[in-house]
Amino acid sequence: MKVRKAVIPAAGLGTRFLPATKAMAKEMLPIVDKPTIQFIVEEALNSGIEDILIVTGKAKRPIEDHFDANLELEMALKEKEKSDLLKLVEETTDVNLHFIRQSHPNGLGHAVLQAKAFVGNEPFVVMLGDDLMEDKNPLSKQLMDDYEKTHASTIAVMDVPHEDTSKYGIINPDGQVEKGLFNVNSFVEKPEPDVAPSDLAIIGRYLLTPEIFPILENLAPGAGNEIQLTDAIDILNKTQRVFARQFKGKRFDVGDKFGFMRTSIEYGLVHPQIKDDLVDFIIELGNKLSQKKQVNESRRNKTEAKRK
Ligand code: G1P
Repeated sequence: MKVRKAVIPAAGLGTRFLPATKAMAKEMLPIVDKPTIQFIVEEALNSGIEDILIVTGKAKRPIEDHFDANLELEMALKEKEKSDLLKLVEETTDVNLHFIRQSHPNGLGHAVLQAKAFVGNEPFVVMLGDDLMEDKNPLSKQLMDDYEKTHASTIAVMDVPHEDTSKYGIINPDGQVEKGLFNVNSFVEKPEPDVAPSDLAIIGRYLLTPEIFPILENLAPGAGNEIQLTDAIDILNKTQRVFARQFKGKRFDVGDKFGFMRTSIEYGLVHPQIKDDLVDFIIELGNKLSQKKQVNESRRNKTEAKRK
C-alpha cells in the first residue's frame, strides 16, 4: 500500500522558548522568515505525502491561519504589484491539511494516538517539528522508499554523542540488512549513557504501520510519566519487524534556544537576501571577539606575572 498520510504532533507547550511561546505556538517561530512547521510541511509535500494531520493544542490557531488563504493580504499585495511576496503567501495554501486538538497533552505516543481515525488502516509517517532535515532525498521519502521494499515500520536514527543519549530514544541494533538499514533488538526511551545500548538515536521521522494504534491505546506511561511512542514501537517490534534507517544528511535541532540560534545563522548564511551582509557581520564579530580574547589573555598573564 502506498504511503499517503503524515502526522505532525504540535501540541507541546514550548516551555523552552518562554516567554515567546506564552501566547504563540512554538512551531510558528521563524528561521529567518519561515515558520519551522512550514519546513516540515514542505518536506512532507516533497516526499509525495498527500494528506497531513497536525495535532494541535492551546495557542495553535496561528498554525491553522498560516496554512489558510489570507485574501486581504493577497489583494493588498496584488494592488501593490508585489508578485514575489504574493507567491510566498500563496505557496502556503496549496496543502491538504487537517487539524485535531489534543486537549490533554500526555506525551508523544498520546499525540500520535489522536491520529487513529485520520490514518485508518494505512501506513503513515510521523514528523516531529523540532528536527529539520536536509538531504538530496527528503528523509520522509527515504523511509517511504524503504517501506516499498520491506512493508515494515522504519524509524530514522542518527549517531549522537554518547553523553547525549538521555535526550533521545536509543536503539539496540542487531546487524544491518542492507547498508544503513538495521534490524533492531529493542528501542529504549532516554537511557542514561551508562545503560544506553548504542549511540544511534531516534531523530523525529517515523514510518509506522497502523498496528501501532492498539498498542498505544493500551500503553502505560513510561519515561517522564508520559505515553511514549518509543515504548509502543518497542512492543510493535516484538510482533512485526521494525527497522531503523540511518540518516546521513544534515539535522538541525530547533527544539532548544542554542539549536534554534545555530539553525537561524546557518539558514541565514544561504538566504539570498541576507547572506552577504551576514557573512560580513560574522567575520567582523569574530575579529572583535578574538581581539577581546587576546586582550583578556594578556591582562591575565600580566596579573599572574605580578603575583609571582
Ligand atoms: C522525542 C522522542 C525521542 C526522540 C526525540 C527526537 O523526544 O520521544 O525518542 O529521540 O523526540 O527529537 P522529545 O525531544 O520530544 O523529548
